[in-house]
Amino acid sequence: MIETIATTPYDDQKPGTSGLRKKVPHFQQPNYAANFIQSIFDALPLDGGETLVIGGDGRYYNREVILMAIRMAAGNGYGRVVVGKDGILSTPAASNLIRKRGASGGIILSASHNPGGAKGDFGIKYNGSNGGPAPESVTARIFEKSKSIQRYRVWTSTAPDISKLGETTLGDMVVEVIDPVADYAELMESLFDFAKIRDLIASGFRLRFDAMHAVTGPYATEILERRLGAPQGSVVNNVPKEDFGGGHPDPNAVHAAELISHLMANDGPDFGAASDGDGDRNLIVGKGVVVSPSDSLAVLAANAPLAPAYAGGLAGIARSMPTSQAADRVAQKRKIGIYETPTGWKFFGNLLDAGKVTICGEESAGTGSDHVREKDGVWAVLLWLNILAERRESVQDILDKHWAEFGRNFYQRHDYEEIDAKAANGLMESLRDRLASMAGQRFGTLVVSEADDFSYKDPIDGSVSTSQGVRIIFSGGSRIVYRLSGTGTAGATLRVYIERFESDPSKHALPPEEALKELIATADVIGEIKKRTGRSEPDVVT
Ligand code: G6P
Ligand code: ZN
Repeated sequence: MIETIATTPYDDQKPGTSGLRKKVPHFQQPNYAANFIQSIFDALPLDGGETLVIGGDGRYYNREVILMAIRMAAGNGYGRVVVGKDGILSTPAASNLIRKRGASGGIILSASHNPGGAKGDFGIKYNGSNGGPAPESVTARIFEKSKSIQRYRVWTSTAPDISKLGETTLGDMVVEVIDPVADYAELMESLFDFAKIRDLIASGFRLRFDAMHAVTGPYATEILERRLGAPQGSVVNNVPKEDFGGGHPDPNAVHAAELISHLMANDGPDFGAASDGDGDRNLIVGKGVVVSPSDSLAVLAANAPLAPAYAGGLAGIARSMPTSQAADRVAQKRKIGIYETPTGWKFFGNLLDAGKVTICGEESAGTGSDHVREKDGVWAVLLWLNILAERRESVQDILDKHWAEFGRNFYQRHDYEEIDAKAANGLMESLRDRLASMAGQRFGTLVVSEADDFSYKDPIDGSVSTSQGVRIIFSGGSRIVYRLSGTGTAGATLRVYIERFESDPSKHALPPEEALKELIATADVIGEIKKRTGRSEPDVVT
C-alpha cells in the first residue's frame, strides 16, 4: 500500500556542485533524507513504470537511506529499481547501469572524497537518463520542491533484503539486486586491450592500487588482480568500510601519502594509483613522480588512441576552467575541439551527449570519457595501463616526452580549508569589485592582461552559469584563479589555482613550487589571503 506521510520543509536542501551534502547527524533529522528524495521525484516528469538505479559508496547511513529510497520509489510509481548488492555501486558503475538498463535516472548516495562514519559526511544526488549528474535546471527545481514539501510517499512494507542477488517485488515494483562489479568490469574489457595489459604485468611490471577502504576495493580487485593478473595484494585497503577505516578517502598528496611513499622508494612498484570514496576520482603515481591531474588529462588525451576504444581519435577534449591548459595544447596540435566549462562534471554532459568531446577532465582528480557520464577512477587507471602496455616506457619518461612535445604547464592548487565563510565571501567580493581596474596592473614582473569572473554559456542548450571563479590572467598566459569550493560541509574552502606555461625543455624539471614562486606570492597580494583569512599557509597543496 502506498502511504502518504506528512512532513515539513527544510530550507537548506539546495544541491551543491555534486548533490546535497551534509554531515550524517544533519541527514538523520526527522524526514530529512525522505524530504529530499521526494523532492527529486516531485521535480521529475514521471509517467510511472520507469526504472531507477540506486546505489552508494557504502559509507555510514548508506543502507538506511537506500532502503528508504527503494520504498519511496515504489510509493512514487517506479516499475523497477536496480540496486547494487548491499547498496553498493561506485558512481561510474551507477552511471553505466543507468545507460545500459535504459533507466530514467538514478539516486547515488555519496559524499565522494569526504570522510565518513557516524559523524562524517553523507550525500544524495540525482543522475538523469544519460547517466550524468542532473543539470542545474533540474537541481534548481529539486530545491524549489524541497522548500514547500508537505508530504512524501512510501510503500508501507519493509524493503526487500538487498544482500541477496536476484529479483523480488515491492507492491507493483520489481526490486533487482545486482552484482555491483560485473557490468562495469565488462564495460572496461570492451574499452581496453586487457591482453596487452596482462602481458605487461606478466613481464614483471609492478603496480599498487590503494582503494582507501572505499568503494573501488571490489572493482579494482576483480579487474586488476583477477582479470589482469596482478599478484594478490596489489590492491591494498580493498575492503570497503563505513568510515573508510577512519581515513579521508581523497586521493591527494596528503591523504594518499602512504601510496606515494611506496612509489618514491627505489625498490617500489612501477605504477601506483588510488581512487576516492565513490570511485570517480583518481590519483596516478609513477616511480618517483606524482602526476598532476591536469597533466594526466593531457597525457591521456594525447595517447588515448593507443587504446582500442579511442583508436579512431578523439572528437574533442573538455576541461573545467581551473584545470591547467595543458590539454588545450594537445587539442591544438591534434586539431580537435577544446571546451572550457565551469567546475563540476555535470557541465560535460551536454558536450558528451552531443558528441563534441570524447575525453574530459578536472584538476580535482577527475578524468573520464564518453563511456559513462561521470568521471571514472578505475577507467583512468586502465587507460594509463593500456598506454604503458603499448609504450613500454616509465611514467616519468612519458611525462618528460609529453612536456618536450607540448611544453609544460606548471600548476598548483592551494586549498585553505574551513575558513570563516564571511571572510571567504568578503575575499571573493573584494576581488570582483577590483576586476574592472585590474588589467594593466603590474605585480613584480607580472602584468595583468585580463581579469574576469568566469561565466559559461552551454553551447548545446544555451544555459548560462555565472560567478564560476575569478580569473587573473597575465601577459604570457600565466593565471591565478580564485574560487570557493562547492562541496565542503563546514565553513568555506578557498581554492587558489596557479599556472604558468614553460616551453623551454631545460626548465621542465624545476619543482612546481619554484617555477611558480612569483605567482604564488602574487596570489596572496591580489587575493589578500593572509589579511582576510588569517592563514599564512594553505592546508593542502595539490
Ligand atoms: C565534485 C565534482 C567535480 C568537481 C569537484 C569540485 O567532486 O564531482 O566535478 O570538480 O566536486 O569540488 P569543489 O570542492 O572544488 O567545488
Ligand atoms: Zn568522488
